[in-house]
Amino acid sequence: MAFNLTSETKVGTIAELLPGATEVFRRAGIGFCCGGEAPLAETVAHNGGDLSAIMAELQALIDRAANVPPTGTEALIDHILTRFHAVHREELQWLIPLAQKVETVHGDHEAAPLGLTAALVALQDDLEAHMAREEQVLFPMMKAGGAPAIHAPIAVMEADHLRAEALLAEVLRAAHGLDLPVGACRSWTALYGGLAKFRDDLVAHMGLENGTLFARFA
Ligand SMILES: [Fe+2]
Ligand SMILES: [Fe+2]
Repeated sequence: MAFNLTSETKVGTIAELLPGATEVFRRAGIGFCCGGEAPLAETVAHNGGDLSAIMAELQALIDRAANVPPTGTEALIDHILTRFHAVHREELQWLIPLAQKVETVHGDHEAAPLGLTAALVALQDDLEAHMAREEQVLFPMMKAGGAPAIHAPIAVMEADHLRAEALLAEVLRAAHGLDLPVGACRSWTALYGGLAKFRDDLVAHMGLENGTLFARFA
């Protein structure tokens, strides 16, 4: 994330450049209009919010985007849990209702992402079951240093990853490759921005597991 957050950064700039920021604003009850031209401090003061708490949340989003994985196996697993599993869960919690909203409000638009909500729910169901298998079976085995038949659960996880990739492709197809129509509203823009980050995270997550973590036990 190549931008420096200060209390003077324009709200619109933060919303545009930092995936997840609009959700922080929404949770904090911060509305912004007029293209978000006002600085963050002014907007937060206007809405009666807590500037330092909001800046901390935004900074955490920036740090998370720049996080480099640790090398030790135990630390790497913990990193995967906090940087990817928890983040996917959290983001799907708001991406799905936001997709539902855009599909409903803009259903008659020629570029409407019809079927996106259903595709996201299908991915969420599959991913949740997959992450639970890693958390309950594979990762404890790896933290214990491995197991004689560990290749079996690893093969299951690799097959899960292929299925997740296919379900992600369905999501992106429903969202027309995240190609925003001209004049898209803030919700639609936030949805595709959030989906782009989610997609990048999911690809990085599975790549890190296949290429680094699982490879250590091959
Ligand atoms: Fe995982
Ligand atoms: Fe995985």
